[in-house]
Amino acid sequence: MKKGKKEKVARFGVSLEEGLLSELDRIVRLNKFSNRSQAIRNIVRENIVKSEWMDSRETAGTITLVYDHTKRELMTRLTHVQHHHHDMIISSQHIHLDHDNCMEVLIIKGRPQEAQKLLAAMRSIKGVKYGALSMATMAGRLP
Ligand code: NI
Repeated sequence: MKKGKKEKVARFGVSLEEGLLSELDRIVRLNKFSNRSQAIRNIVRENIVKSEWMDSRETAGTITLVYDHTKRELMTRLTHVQHHHHDMIISSQHIHLDHDNCMEVLIIKGRPQEAQKLLAAMRSIKGVKYGALSMATMAGRLP
């Protein structure tokens, strides 16, 4: 959908068991949604991204790492892991945060499970203080 262009809203009735309805209201309260419709919208969007992820052969995303480069063997291990996954790393950027700490951002493309394995392998290296995977989407099914 083009940014700024408002999509037409459709209304529909929902039948729900009372137990499920109170769970929905709990979700509304927990997330501070303004109403049930907003909660349902959010649940649908989350599910689209999730299922796209699980089914997809290929997805794109980034891995962000923060590590202490002075830790012994860290750079060697990190390079080794990245070479092992060379086919999924499209590019990487290294920033020297301060005297000891570095930040590295990898742009990746590949199977979601492989991306999670790559993150786990790097995060388990001693000296890596932070590691996060942000999965974007190939946007195939997102309206
Ligand atoms: Ni550095």
